[in-house]
Amino acid sequence: MALLEVRDLRTGYGHVPVLHGVSFSVDEGETAVMLGLNGAGKTTCMLAVAGLLRRWGGEVLFDGRPVGKHQDSRAMTRLGVVLVPEGRHVFPGLSVQNNLRLGAWPVRRHPRKVKANTDRVFDVFPLLAERRHQLAGTLSGGEQQMLALGRGLMGSPRLLLIDEASLGLSPVLAQQVFQAARRINSEGVTVLMVEQNAGALSLADRALLMQKGRIAMEGSGADLMSESALRQAYLGAPA
Ligand SMILES: Nc1ncnc2c1ncn2[C@@H]1O[C@H](COP(=O)(O)OP(=O)(O)OP(=O)(O)O)[C@@H](O)[C@H]1O
Ligand SMILES: [Mg+2]
Repeated sequence: MALLEVRDLRTGYGHVPVLHGVSFSVDEGETAVMLGLNGAGKTTCMLAVAGLLRRWGGEVLFDGRPVGKHQDSRAMTRLGVVLVPEGRHVFPGLSVQNNLRLGAWPVRRHPRKVKANTDRVFDVFPLLAERRHQLAGTLSGGEQQMLALGRGLMGSPRLLLIDEASLGLSPVLAQQVFQAARRINSEGVTVLMVEQNAGALSLADRALLMQKGRIAMEGSGADLMSESALRQAYLGAPA
């Protein structure tokens, strides 16, 4: 069953449209990967789903229920939709531990859940446990990305939206981020990842190609990997 369903989503900035009717769904338990070039509208789509950007039109359904146009990011977080934003946005002057605590906002009234989520984050990212007292601003780029993912997990997400987690990381670190996403998904969290790195297709139960504010292709990760059109349109290789 679809945990997230997006139908004919239209939005943009000011008077400039960016998404021209985007439709897709993500089933509960899946990892979906959305690929697309710079400026295709991937982040815009994530922001609209996370309630950080108003929809101009179309519908979003979460767990079968329509999400109102005025449901903001707080409301979405309460439903279990958590965004790990592009650019990480960790709080540099706060320790690793305090950054994680901020991520626990949706479950702050349930200390046992906060503790269980912290244990889970430290289990998935042992490095964060080692560095729990270090200021986030002094972590390396890869470590900050792990922290951003860990902070997302602290909110007990049902759907984790991960926007370009591999951006600016070495191939080895990008693989580590993908492995972490796989692990998170294997523990029952549905994942929607935005990527420019086609290596993420190996994780994808469902793959989507965003082009100029529209979903240009959809299939399994393997389908999209073998699509000559994808290679031509997205990777720039001959068909
Ligand atoms: N805050 C904003 N104000 C005005 N236009 C914006 C804003 N944010 C994004 N845009 C425009 O919307 C379009 C889509 O941008 P978006 O950030 O969604 O692309 P993207 O697919 O995430 O790209 P990238 O891979 O570079 O992150 C671009 O033309 C961009 O210039
Ligand atoms: Mg983006």
